[in-house]
Amino acid sequence: MRIGVLVSGRGSNLESILKSIQKGAIKGAQVSVVISNRAEARALRIAREYGAKAVTVSQGSASSEEFGSALSVALRKHGVSPREGLVLLAGFMKVLPRSFVELYRGRIMNIHPSLLPAFPGLNAQRQALEHGVKVSGCTVHFVVPEVDAGPIIIQKAVAVKEGDDEGSLSSRILRQEHRIYPEAVRLFVQGRLRIVGRGVLVKR
Ligand code: GRF
Repeated sequence: MRIGVLVSGRGSNLESILKSIQKGAIKGAQVSVVISNRAEARALRIAREYGAKAVTVSQGSASSEEFGSALSVALRKHGVSPREGLVLLAGFMKVLPRSFVELYRGRIMNIHPSLLPAFPGLNAQRQALEHGVKVSGCTVHFVVPEVDAGPIIIQKAVAVKEGDDEGSLSSRILRQEHRIYPEAVRLFVQGRLRIVGRGVLVKR
């Protein structure tokens, strides 16, 4: 299966997936292209270090629809097809247009640093601290046009400790992100995920 990863920044989740593939934990899949909307993203360097093709597609003055089309052209050029490919959002800071989400329907995943549906959108860890929750975590979900609202594939809870700040909580959550995202990809590649209504069934 050909995977395309959309990124904007640091690329640590991208690296966790590239590592899992490299060590044979996800069989039958390859990262065919990493696409960043920012040319200076560290994620592009990580992609190249692992020998993956890395390109920039920035939105510039294009509309969201046009940007979505440019992304799908770049994905298809690298063999990530809407019928057989997989698109992973890994710290991708743009909202995809409905047309793109519908084209790759059921084949786009995202990772979010909270237990959705709590704290969608930006700065999820800060939102959790400000709310005073005792438990937060991370979620891998399928992407639907509404932000952070799609069927949930895997979640992992992380305790909020007294004295946590955004940095300490974020880094504890990130360690779990690096475990559950490759795991969700593995399940998808093995054909073990089925979306049923709002939920996702995992075949044992
Ligand atoms: C992660 O916290 C992820 O959950 C969120 O954006 C961050 C990306 O980090 N969507 P990285 O670029 O994968 O290091």
